[in-house]
Amino acid sequence: MEQAGNKSGLFIGVVAAIAALGGLLFGYDTGVISGAILFIKDQFALTPAREELVVSAVLVGAIIGAALSGQVSDTFGRKRVIIATAVIFTLGSIVTAMAPGVSLLIAGRLVIGVAIGIASFAVPLYISEISPARARGALVSLNQLAITVGIVLSYVVDFLLAGQKSWRGMFALGVVPAAILGIGIFFLPASPRWLMSRSLVHRAREVLRRVRAGGNVEKELSDIESSLQQETGGWKELLKPWMRKPLIIGIGIMFFQQVTGINTVIYYAPTIFEFAGFGSASVAILATMGVGIVNVIMTIVSIKVIDRIGRRPLLFIGLAGMVVSLSALGLAFGMKGLSHILKWVAAGSLILYIASFAFSLGTVAWVIVSEVFPLKIRGRAMSLATMSNWIFNFTVAMTFLTLIEKIGKAGTFWLYAILGITGWVFCYFYIPETKGHTLEQIEEHWRKGLGPRDLR
Ligand code: BGC
Repeated sequence: MEQAGNKSGLFIGVVAAIAALGGLLFGYDTGVISGAILFIKDQFALTPAREELVVSAVLVGAIIGAALSGQVSDTFGRKRVIIATAVIFTLGSIVTAMAPGVSLLIAGRLVIGVAIGIASFAVPLYISEISPARARGALVSLNQLAITVGIVLSYVVDFLLAGQKSWRGMFALGVVPAAILGIGIFFLPASPRWLMSRSLVHRAREVLRRVRAGGNVEKELSDIESSLQQETGGWKELLKPWMRKPLIIGIGIMFFQQVTGINTVIYYAPTIFEFAGFGSASVAILATMGVGIVNVIMTIVSIKVIDRIGRRPLLFIGLAGMVVSLSALGLAFGMKGLSHILKWVAAGSLILYIASFAFSLGTVAWVIVSEVFPLKIRGRAMSLATMSNWIFNFTVAMTFLTLIEKIGKAGTFWLYAILGITGWVFCYFYIPETKGHTLEQIEEHWRKGLGPRDLR
């Protein structure tokens, strides 16, 4: 029995890891542009406006991808949507690597963005639906780990190919993980919860037997069945009063994940290091890699504890760390007298900031949105939350440099710090402790009209 349990534990780990390759692509393809843009800009003599378009096309694509895929994943299944993602990633990588001019390059980045948008919601959704409650947080967070590894990989590739100025090579290498994902996904089972929603009970039972050796499969099936009987599954369901809380939670946590400034660091770290007085480009790139590696390490720490100490404590600790580090950054940039130690305060603050984010909002936000919505409309609701994530991401990326110009560096970081404090308060009142509960128990909780903090 124990051996069977270990085997199914290993199997579910492998399943989650293969699906998480979608996260690796998300990280790689968002990170790769930071290095590639330097050479693209030169080769095509881009104006700043065109440059912005090349960089942000991915974000616009991701908004579209996240918006489109909700209904598609409810209709055709999570697994088919992930297969489509691998195909779109491959096509987009080929187009961008071979683009003869800027227009096709922008089109290719837009297509890659669509794939990122789909992957960013379909992967956590799939993993969450196939995982046992006791390990769901850690398994879904494998996706976040893959995102952070993808970002570091993209920095490394950018660094290695910078000598040859080969931006085409940087984009082309994205094909490798896309192909592995495309092949790997054929070996994965369909989501048992989606199978049940299509009345494929027999197949759902088969999948659950493979992934739950020793667990009570019949009980899980009947819980899923009764949750399915309660809703109609249309968009209208999202407007019902009992859906309000999960929607506020899902969109709210995505709002705070983005408006506390994470992607100003991921996309502009070298710029921030330069502001702080690290003169040479290579030092700035090395420091940026340091940021990427701390991001990976603290994501691993978070995964280790998320199912033990729970989602809420992670958010409280991490958001506090983010607020402290953002305030320190603001102070360092704001106080003239500190200019001689600015470099070190800035570097230390950025490291504390990324560590705190990775430990909290990085992992927890995606876990929470994969857990709080009822089964029949989980795809649609989660795509809405994911779409908001990309809209907020886009807004912050597009306003960062302007904000610095208008309210200064110190003001900008203080603004993110204030939003961090607001985020802490939001999490305190709105984020439920979902640790150890099955998805059906969480759904039942909303149905009873209970509040987020009543779930323990
Ligand atoms: C966020 C991304 C961010 C990444 C950094 C993810 O959870 O959604 O916007 O770039 O974490 O690790």
